[in-house]
Amino acid sequence: MKEIYKKILEKALPLYEKGREGDVEHIKWLAEVITKYVNEFEVDYDILIPVVLLHDVGYSKVPKGSNPFDLDIRKFHSEEGAKISEEILEELNYPKDKINEIKRLILKHDNWAFGDDFADEPVLRIFNNFDFMWMASEKGFDIVRKFMKKEPKEFYEQINEFQRKNEEEGRKWFNKNIEEFYNQLMRERKEGLST
Ligand SMILES: [Fe+2]
Ligand SMILES: [Fe+2]
Repeated sequence: MKEIYKKILEKALPLYEKGREGDVEHIKWLAEVITKYVNEFEVDYDILIPVVLLHDVGYSKVPKGSNPFDLDIRKFHSEEGAKISEEILEELNYPKDKINEIKRLILKHDNWAFGDDFADEPVLRIFNNFDFMWMASEKGFDIVRKFMKKEPKEFYEQINEFQRKNEEEGRKWFNKNIEEFYNQLMRERKEGLST
């Protein structure tokens, strides 16, 4: 990871510790996997990586125990996250034009919940592919499942249901490798159900 991204993560981690349960793991997992599936020729990492690292810092302003699936909470954490991200990036002397773009995207990052397909937002399409499939990852599965108060089998079906909705609303996989990675995670979770 580039030095500047490490500095961003360093500033963001204490906020994630105060924020939603499981978010430290969420962010670390995203940062680890995302660069394996999208290369720097396809997307500007200097936008994508800060969006990934900072997108949920706004949960540090959300009262503990709030329902993260509530639409008002979604809006609120995006707005707060955009403000906090600007402060963090300014402290690190990040280029101003990039800060504005990152802020704009963090403000929109959860708009899939309002039906957005991100068709003309490649950074958010990539980001959303991974933000979504976090719940199919080994750690994410149990973390999100507990939020939703579901049994493993029920939650596995729920993810399939969410993915059907993604397809219905036009949210596509950014590339074949990402889609295959998601399918692989789901196969692993399915195997886990029978053990
Ligand atoms: Fe979010
Ligand atoms: Fe997220």
